[in-house]
Amino acid sequence: MEPYQFLAVLIITLFSCCCCNASLDSRNNNIRRLSGNLKPDFYTIRIHPFFDAPGVTFDPERNQTFDGDVTIFANVLHPTTTIILNAMNLTFPCANKNVIFSNTEMKAIKIINFLITPENQTITIDLERQLQQNESITIKLKYIGQIGDNTQFGLFKSTPDKEWATEDEYDDVVYVTQFETTGARYVFPSFDEPDYKATFQVTIVKPKQWVALSNTFNFTITDIGNGYEEVFFINTEIISTYLVAFGIGDLISVTGYTADYIVTRIWSTRSGKDLMAAALESAIKCTDAITKYTNFTLPLLKIDHLAVPWFGGAMENFGLIVYGRNLLLFNPKVEKLRQWLQRTSIICHELSHHWFGDMVTNKWWGDIFIHEGFADFFQNKAMALAYPKEKEYMVG
Ligand SMILES: *[C@@H]1O[C@H](CO)[C@@H](O)[C@H](O)[C@H]1NC(C)=O
Ligand SMILES: *[C@@H]1O[C@H](CO)[C@@H](O)[C@H](O)[C@H]1NC(C)=O
Ligand SMILES: *[C@@H]1O[C@H](CO)[C@@H](O)[C@H](O)[C@H]1NC(C)=O
Ligand SMILES: *[C@@H]1O[C@H](CO)[C@@H](O)[C@H](O)[C@H]1NC(C)=O
Ligand SMILES: *[C@@H]1O[C@H](CO)[C@@H](O)[C@H](O)[C@H]1NC(C)=O
Ligand SMILES: *[C@@H]1O[C@H](CO)[C@@H](O)[C@H](O)[C@H]1NC(C)=O
Ligand SMILES: [Zn+2]
Repeated sequence: MEPYQFLAVLIITLFSCCCCNASLDSRNNNIRRLSGNLKPDFYTIRIHPFFDAPGVTFDPERNQTFDGDVTIFANVLHPTTTIILNAMNLTFPCANKNVIFSNTEMKAIKIINFLITPENQTITIDLERQLQQNESITIKLKYIGQIGDNTQFGLFKSTPDKEWATEDEYDDVVYVTQFETTGARYVFPSFDEPDYKATFQVTIVKPKQWVALSNTFNFTITDIGNGYEEVFFINTEIISTYLVAFGIGDLISVTGYTADYIVTRIWSTRSGKDLMAAALESAIKCTDAITKYTNFTLPLLKIDHLAVPWFGGAMENFGLIVYGRNLLLFNPKVEKLRQWLQRTSIICHELSHHWFGDMVTNKWWGDIFIHEGFADFFQNKAMALAYPKEKEYMVG
């Protein structure tokens, strides 16, 4: 995250709207820590959101909600009769679709109680028998979630501030996620603490005429009718839940390659079509500079940089960085060196997190300053290495 930008937006939001009291910090307090009895290894997540888009038909009652399916493969570290997962603003209307399966015994374990406990941002699943140490289990849940409106939390609809938008931008919309710190639990039940790293396979249902992006490349696309396509993404590296991300919109892109052949793409709604070239150059140069300096090539086939209409700051999701568009897109005809330096330093900051934060992660939110500190340092270091001539204009 680019914290100053985020705070600035929060402050603006606070002044412009008297009903907002959320802040990054207040979300972290008093959150129950998970027990440590279970360790997740692999998740499959399928999200089918419902919203207005060209060519799609859906039950209007489902507008701005989504269907979710999650399967978690986990190992039992300490014997327990309850499974506690983080979940928030999710409902579980089909109890018979929730399954706990023992892979060790090859049979289902009966659920005797399924409790939604929003005060702890958890669900608690009581089982008929105790799970044994080293037992391997599968947790399969079906649920419904909500799509926020410029909430910048969970899955939300990002739309321009109408007061500032140009005519070109006015109708832009991107559906996108923001999970740091505790937003993942609003989209899929999970062990939503940074220490519970796992591999994720994400599947997104999206309007046929639009694009869906996630942390990795897609590998299959299937037509499922009513104007929808199901897009399967290849497995992620081992990452924290807060770094999982996806975005859906009528998006266009420009593409380049780093020295290590990592595909680098800048994505925007159509109104940004002439404003993506500078970002692409900065993204490639920063990636190359940090790779060379650290002598560590990221285990990624691609890194996407997605500009969305409404977003305070930027977020370093592994392989899919999301930015408020005024922090990524750059118009060389009207903007100056100062704006270019700002965009490039934010791009370098989010890329730095790919090494410091994404690959190496703090165990708990209290230590977030460690990866922010590294990213703040490397945003300048990387810029100085990537742009030796512009170095004298840089701060820090
Ligand atoms: C869905 O909700 C949006 C507001 O978020 C509204 O503009 C639109 O008309 C609704 N669509 C349907 C099909 O109800
Ligand atoms: C919430 O967490 C606290 C602290 O772990 C625990 O004592 C309490 O029973 C939990 N409440 C529910 C409803 O799970
Ligand atoms: C579980 O696995 C660990 C590591 O392989 C082993 O030390 C431990 O004895 C096992 N526990 C049981 C109950 O099998
Ligand atoms: C969670 O649900 C509440 C109540 O419906 C809503 O006000 C809030 O915006 C939701 N949070 C998110 C992140 O969607
Ligand atoms: C899937 O990936 C390919 C290659 O990157 C891309 O051309 C295509 O647009 C993607 N499809 C969707 C639905 O995002
Ligand atoms: C860079 O990493 C490679 C492979 O890990 C290693 O062989 C090489 O010695 C490293 N170079 C430097 C300068 O540390
Ligand atoms: Zn940051």
